[in-house]
Amino acid sequence: MTNALQNRRILLVISGGIAAYKSLDLIRRLREAGAEVRCVLTQGGAQFVTPLSVAALSEDKVYSDLWSLTDEAQMGHIRLSREADLVLVAPASANMIGKMAQGLADDLASTILLATDKPVMIAPAMNVMMWTHAAVQANIKTLQQRGVKILGPASGLMACGEEGEGRMLEVADILAAVAAHFSVAGSLGGKRALVTSGPTFEPLDPVRFIGNRSSGKQGHAIAKALYAQGAETILVTGPTALPDPAGIKTIRVQTAQEMLAACEASLPVDVAVCAAAVADWRPSEMSDEKLKKGAAKAVLELAKNADILATLAKAGNRRPRLVVGFAAETNDMLKNASEKLVRKNCDWLVANDVGSGKVFNQDDNEVTLLRRDGKGQTQSDAWPRQSKDQVARALVEEIVSFFKTA
Ligand code: PMT
Repeated sequence: MTNALQNRRILLVISGGIAAYKSLDLIRRLREAGAEVRCVLTQGGAQFVTPLSVAALSEDKVYSDLWSLTDEAQMGHIRLSREADLVLVAPASANMIGKMAQGLADDLASTILLATDKPVMIAPAMNVMMWTHAAVQANIKTLQQRGVKILGPASGLMACGEEGEGRMLEVADILAAVAAHFSVAGSLGGKRALVTSGPTFEPLDPVRFIGNRSSGKQGHAIAKALYAQGAETILVTGPTALPDPAGIKTIRVQTAQEMLAACEASLPVDVAVCAAAVADWRPSEMSDEKLKKGAAKAVLELAKNADILATLAKAGNRRPRLVVGFAAETNDMLKNASEKLVRKNCDWLVANDVGSGKVFNQDDNEVTLLRRDGKGQTQSDAWPRQSKDQVARALVEEIVSFFKTA
């Protein structure tokens, strides 16, 4: 369990309920297991535990005010939700569950829960009559259908003196469920993953380069999703404005040649996902001095860069077990992508139509996953437009299934 939680960033929402006292122990136990815990305390939660105890145990500031000028300027509800690997609501009151199901956002906690693109788990805690009420059950069903994981509740004697279902799960059980979420078993624990991301910059002179519009959002999201499934993840990235993802070995490079060298040095890996937009060509020579504009016309001589994806896919006995490429196409997407899949000898290829403004630097993406079935046929699976994080998680789910059946 300890490894599964190491360096995981948990955003713990403590809503109003007597079980909030158990959340103090939960913070302590999560941190002992190596997780970073950041806490959001609702107004109701603060009736049961003090911000001071929560801050002392999490060794961090406690967030509770949606309208805090400093928090919004420095952190913000969006960043709070994005900087977590998992959002855990414990205890989850009937009110909080209702707000989540209805999409209400009238305080910091509910706004984060609406804004998050991360997995969400909730540990309901309430009186048995409230828990079994048709309204609460309908809300729970709605949340389940949206992918929220419901932990418990347990049965037993409650603080109100009544007995039945509605008690918050014991801290050890919540901890085990959270660990299982990140867990090694059944996912990518013990596997090494390599991801390329971002553009490459091919220098012409000390100030100019040939580059492209890749932001790294898609590749970084894939690295984070692989890491969240327990893979030891290496991210080789071209120049991007994105921060290095926590827990992931990130190698920053500029050129395609540097990217190739970093990828080759990272072998062996079990899976390689090449999402980088690598320049196919580089200036044959780099001038040490800034080129002068003098002549009316200039001809640029280019040299071909090695194909990193194809190199990894032909790496002999160092070839990753699963090689996944991307295809950025502006026309005849499926036809061109299918040819690329075979030409570059990869197992899968994620095709996206990068026509103007559709993918580069956007937060969402619409992709088709192409797979070779080993009998010379290509299967294709078109996914709906969704956030790049969702694309990443869906792709990693496929990778998990691949290794389960491999
Ligand atoms: O970074 P974002 O702003 O989030 O945008 C995401 C993306 C558009 C960059 C991403 O979704 C994507 O499509 N990445 C692949 C871009 C690309 O270069 O595609 P391509 O069709 O030119 O190349 C095909 C494959 O070969 C890719 O896996 C590419 O990484 C790889 N390649 C290409 C050339 C080269 N010299 N070496 C390579 O490894």
